[in-house]
Amino acid sequence: MKKRYGTKAIHSGEHPEWFNQAVTGDISPSTTYVIPNAKSLEGWDGYIYSRISNPTRKSLEEKIASLDDCESAIALSSGMAAVSVGLMSCLSAGDMIIAQNSLYGGTYDLVVNVLPKFGIKTLFVPKEKLYDLSWAPKEAKVAYIETPSNPTLGITDIRATCTAAHGRDMLVVADNSFATSYLQKPANLGVDLVLYSATKFMAGHSDCLAGAITGRKDLVEKAYRLMTQFGSPLDPFSCFLLARGLKTLELRMNKAQSTAMEIARFLANHPKVSRVFYPGLWNSPERELALTQMKGWGGMVTFEMKGGFEGASALFDNLQLIFRAGSLGGIESCISIPVLMSHHHLDEAALKEADITSGMLRFSVGIEDNSDLIEDLTQALDKVK
Ligand SMILES: Cc1ncc(COP(=O)(O)O)c(C=O)c1O
Repeated sequence: MKKRYGTKAIHSGEHPEWFNQAVTGDISPSTTYVIPNAKSLEGWDGYIYSRISNPTRKSLEEKIASLDDCESAIALSSGMAAVSVGLMSCLSAGDMIIAQNSLYGGTYDLVVNVLPKFGIKTLFVPKEKLYDLSWAPKEAKVAYIETPSNPTLGITDIRATCTAAHGRDMLVVADNSFATSYLQKPANLGVDLVLYSATKFMAGHSDCLAGAITGRKDLVEKAYRLMTQFGSPLDPFSCFLLARGLKTLELRMNKAQSTAMEIARFLANHPKVSRVFYPGLWNSPERELALTQMKGWGGMVTFEMKGGFEGASALFDNLQLIFRAGSLGGIESCISIPVLMSHHHLDEAALKEADITSGMLRFSVGIEDNSDLIEDLTQALDKVK
């Protein structure tokens, strides 16, 4: 029977027979497992050591793969573990990444300040340059995209990037953290390796740091090997929390994105706001493209205050309900200041290229009552001079 997303979120990867017929899979904290005898080690495919495999992680990985329509997935200790393992597993010294110039600040920091030490360079380009890669140098091996991007919610054309990159024998690696597999399935659009900060919408409760990689089976296997070599799998307790979060992802995302649309419209009509970034807004330049590859607009809204940093910080300081906090994708609403938080690694020139300004605020819309969120924004905006 072909199962739909919400059903797969509940049932995929669940194996009552592994856990005494329990409806909810157990947390298996053991780091090591008993081997019956020496002879059984020949061709052994059971558990030996938890860095290599663990039943709670295996169950979670089956669920993530199924939700992405992929054959395999791995669960890692954070989103940055997924980004670094994902990239390093398909690159060698001398290779180059061609990346869109609007990316999460931690990813920017990794490719600018760490990977060059291992001989891997990155060239940043406006995302449109990824749709025709005939100009790319021959050492370019990976096209790296993040869509929607953090924090400006830019949409990159996944199909066009894949066609251009594959025509040059390059791989496409995509960060799908903001959309999640509920709203967008990059592997079905041609992406080779899909990365997630599962800390965000996937786990969804701001209590679990996690990452995931899905995509082409052969590439996920290479990433799995590097994950075990680097020692960065997800621990069983967090595996349990992430699996539980995934079961309600569809419900949470539906609520968050319906409120996000309301908030984006409210902000777009507010005299103290200069720009609103939300792909679902009728006048968003990203709307048409988003419609071709996403099935919803997501729960993130970014906006820019007319008063620049002074305006943004006044609003930030006057929030009473919405948390002033750096993460996103949780059930509780959080607002952050990208230039001081998620993107503090970027210098002036990189911020300019990514169109990130000091008057910007990034709003991760939670699942509270929408009217309460608008009331909080209204009272905070009233206090901005
Ligand atoms: C788009 C994106 N990718 C990756 C990461 C890194 O994830 P983590 O904080 O789970 O390591 C983040 C974190 O904010 C992010 O926003």
